[in-house]
Amino acid sequence: MHSSSASRTPQNVEIVPRNQHFNVEEVLQTNWHGDDPFKTAFFDAMSILFPLGEQFFIDSVKAYRGKFDDPELERRVRGFMAQEAIHRREHQSYNEALCRARGVSLRKMERVVYRRQKFARKFLSPLQQLGGTVAFEHLTAILADALFRNPEALEGAHPEMAAMWRWHALEETEHKAVAFDVYMAVGGKTWRRRLAMAFVTIEFTQHVVRNMRLLLHAYEGSRLELWRGGFRFLFGKKGALRGLWQPYLDFYKKDFHPWDHDNRALVSSVMSEFGGATVNPI
Ligand SMILES: [Fe+2]
Ligand SMILES: [Fe+2]
Repeated sequence: MHSSSASRTPQNVEIVPRNQHFNVEEVLQTNWHGDDPFKTAFFDAMSILFPLGEQFFIDSVKAYRGKFDDPELERRVRGFMAQEAIHRREHQSYNEALCRARGVSLRKMERVVYRRQKFARKFLSPLQQLGGTVAFEHLTAILADALFRNPEALEGAHPEMAAMWRWHALEETEHKAVAFDVYMAVGGKTWRRRLAMAFVTIEFTQHVVRNMRLLLHAYEGSRLELWRGGFRFLFGKKGALRGLWQPYLDFYKKDFHPWDHDNRALVSSVMSEFGGATVNPI
C-alpha cells in the first residue's frame, strides 16, 4: 500500500479554481437540453445534489488538514476546496432559479440528503466520512470523463448550460485524486473505500432518480415512454454514460489510483476554453 499516493498524480495537472459565473436563470425555465425533458431532468437532478454534497466533501477533507506531512498535497487540498466552493455557489443559484421557474420545492428535494448527511456526520468516523467522499469523487470523475468522451451527452444543450457542465467536469477531473490522496496519506484502507463505494453508488442513484421523478412530474408528467427514451440516451449504444462500467469497477482494485485513468489529453481542449491550464497532453 502507498503511504502517500500524491506522486501518482501527474506533475503537470494544476488545480485551478476559476471564478466563473453562468447566466442560466432564464434558460432554466425551459427544457434546455435539446427540448428533451428527460435529458434536462437528468442534469438538473444532479445539480440539486451538489451544494449539500460538495459541502460534505469539503468538510470531510478539511477535517484532515494538518494531519499529513505533504506540502504539495496540502496545496492541492486548497485548490480542491476552492473549486468545490465555487461549484456550490453556482449550483445553488442554478437550483434556486430552477425551482422558482418550475414550481418545485428545493427544500423537499434537499431534505432527504440533509438528513442522511446529519446521520453520517453524527455516526460515522471522520475516516469513514472521507471514504464516502473518495467514492463520490470517483463517481463525479467518471461522469465528467463520460461527458468529454461521449459528445452525445451534451449535444443539443443550450450553450451556456453546456459550458457550465463542461467547466464543472473539467475541475472535477483536475481534483479527482485529492480526496483519495488524503485518504491514503492518513492510512485509509482499501476495504473501507470499497465498502463506501457500494453504499455511495446506491445513495447517489437513489437521489438522482428521486429528484428526476419529482422534476419530470413538473416538466411533463412522468410517462413510461419518456423513461424508456431516457434510458436509451443514458445507456444506449450511443448513450451518454457508455463506457462507465469498467472505470467504475476499477475503483474496487487494490492498487487503484484515480490517475490510472489518465484523461489529460481528453480535457486539454476544454481547458483552453476556460483557461488556467498547464496540461501538456502526451
Ligand atoms: Fe464539484
Ligand atoms: Fe469534486
